[in-house]
Amino acid sequence: AKYGDQAVHRGQGGETHQIAEDGYDTLTTQQGIPVADDQNTLRQGARGPALMEDAHFREKIFHFDHERIPERVVHARGYGAHGYFETYRSLSKLTRADIFQREGERTPVFVRFSTVAGSKGSFDLARDVRGFAVKFYTQEGNWDLVGNNIPVFFIQDAIKFPDIIHSVKPEPDKAFPQAQSAHDNFWDFISLTPESMHMIMWVMSDRAIPRSYRFMQGFGVHTFRLVNAKGESSFVKFIWKPKLGMQSVLWNEAVKINGADPDFHRRDLWNAIQSGDFPEWELCLQVFDQEFADRFDFDVLDPTKIIPEEVLPAEPVGRLVLDRMPDNFFAETEQVAFMTQNVPPGIEFSNDPLLQGRNFSYLDTQLKRLGSPNFAQLPINAPKCPFHHLQQDGHMAFQNPRGRANYEPNSWGTEIGGPRESPERGFHTFPQEPEGPKVRLRPESFADHYSQARQFYVSQSLVEQRHIGDALVFELSKCEFPAIRERMVAHLRNVDADLAQTVADGLGMKKLPPAAPPAQKPRTDLPP
Ligand code: HEM
Repeated sequence: AKYGDQAVHRGQGGETHQIAEDGYDTLTTQQGIPVADDQNTLRQGARGPALMEDAHFREKIFHFDHERIPERVVHARGYGAHGYFETYRSLSKLTRADIFQREGERTPVFVRFSTVAGSKGSFDLARDVRGFAVKFYTQEGNWDLVGNNIPVFFIQDAIKFPDIIHSVKPEPDKAFPQAQSAHDNFWDFISLTPESMHMIMWVMSDRAIPRSYRFMQGFGVHTFRLVNAKGESSFVKFIWKPKLGMQSVLWNEAVKINGADPDFHRRDLWNAIQSGDFPEWELCLQVFDQEFADRFDFDVLDPTKIIPEEVLPAEPVGRLVLDRMPDNFFAETEQVAFMTQNVPPGIEFSNDPLLQGRNFSYLDTQLKRLGSPNFAQLPINAPKCPFHHLQQDGHMAFQNPRGRANYEPNSWGTEIGGPRESPERGFHTFPQEPEGPKVRLRPESFADHYSQARQFYVSQSLVEQRHIGDALVFELSKCEFPAIRERMVAHLRNVDADLAQTVADGLGMKKLPPAAPPAQKPRTDLPP
């Protein structure tokens, strides 16, 4: 059902009554009572006090008073569109996921692009990571690939997520800056978190000020797992590549655009789709096995690392086309609830400790934001395949199980007995062996924080490298505390000597601080 279908409800048999004299639909209350006057409250005398019995007024104001829901705790500002995903070929050898079984099959999708740090009303051209969240409405349930336009992340463990986000959001006493990473708290945290250095290189690069959503790549970031019908598993990284290629703006342009048109990215997406210029991305997979993973010095479970495409090419397996804007921003783009844990049979998680934490966080946060455990019943969140479960009631339940059986096992027949589990078709978790004792311990394989930061920096053209240097100087020049600047330059010395010098010079530093220790000793609660 589309939002519009709900908004203009034509009741049973009421059609003729609910058409106004001029042929428009009659304005009604929520209860369907036709409204004669929407301009004036009911008063005792034209100049007298308002009357409590004015149910129309009270309902209208009550509803208005309750229009706001909490904005997303991160990625508050976003813009979405509908479209489809079309497979190039069957991937049945790799995965039993229904979406990848048949060549040419189209699956409906909803995509939401976002910035991370700014509030809902912030501007589009902030220097920031962009969210790239895709909900695939597959025949075996919804698959949410909740990614970003940068292939790595700031932190290795989800337990640090509240810290990184607190540090990047407005400072709690000042309540600013609102949508920039340029501030003390952020750089304080970053300078104390060497694992963020690879991500910082990307965030200071042109990737963090894309020209529009249509010119961005997207990444699932984590290593995921594919499992085929025989139960054989491989690891996979998901990458979206825009058909238009990648383009960014310059920082000077970004600042001007933010002032002149804070909605620049939304306007671009709206205009492109409304004029039939449908943006497209290819979904590309990097598929590998444990043996391949073991060849690297880094860990494929570490979300601060990529697998370079020179080493493992990303194979295109299908295309995403966005061809329809939502009918209603709130109903669809605001109420869409992405959750990393939404995976259909054939797609599974790896033990990436960031992903594992995300799998808890998203369900939890959606309940807070949308307010009812029935948020999956909203049309934008509901699967488009048949679904049958025995969950019931709660606020706003409008799809309770039908009939008599709301429990199982039961002895009722197929007519009224409700759904049954299906060992053959259902989701079986890949039976990975557990390893080691219960510990709070970062593995040694997560300890190198600089090699890939360096790799990214040197892979950039000279102009792009200059942009990274300029961005670091600009951002760090906003930090009041010399110690933070020095810690950052100490890290940069492990990334690239010229970059460190450029930034130190740009910040007017008299002498370079000593380099940070190159490999960080993992912290552990184990006895020495
Ligand atoms: C929202 C991506 C890490 C918690 C989002 C959204 C995206 C995203 C794209 C916006 C979804 C939308 O458009 O509605 C990522 C990526 C991560 C990451 C790529 C790392 C690789 C984390 C972690 C946590 C987390 C570690 C918590 C442990 C959240 C929460 C929301 C969110 C609470 C708000 C969801 C909502 O209210 O709709 N994330 N995120 N994220 N993320 Fe993440």
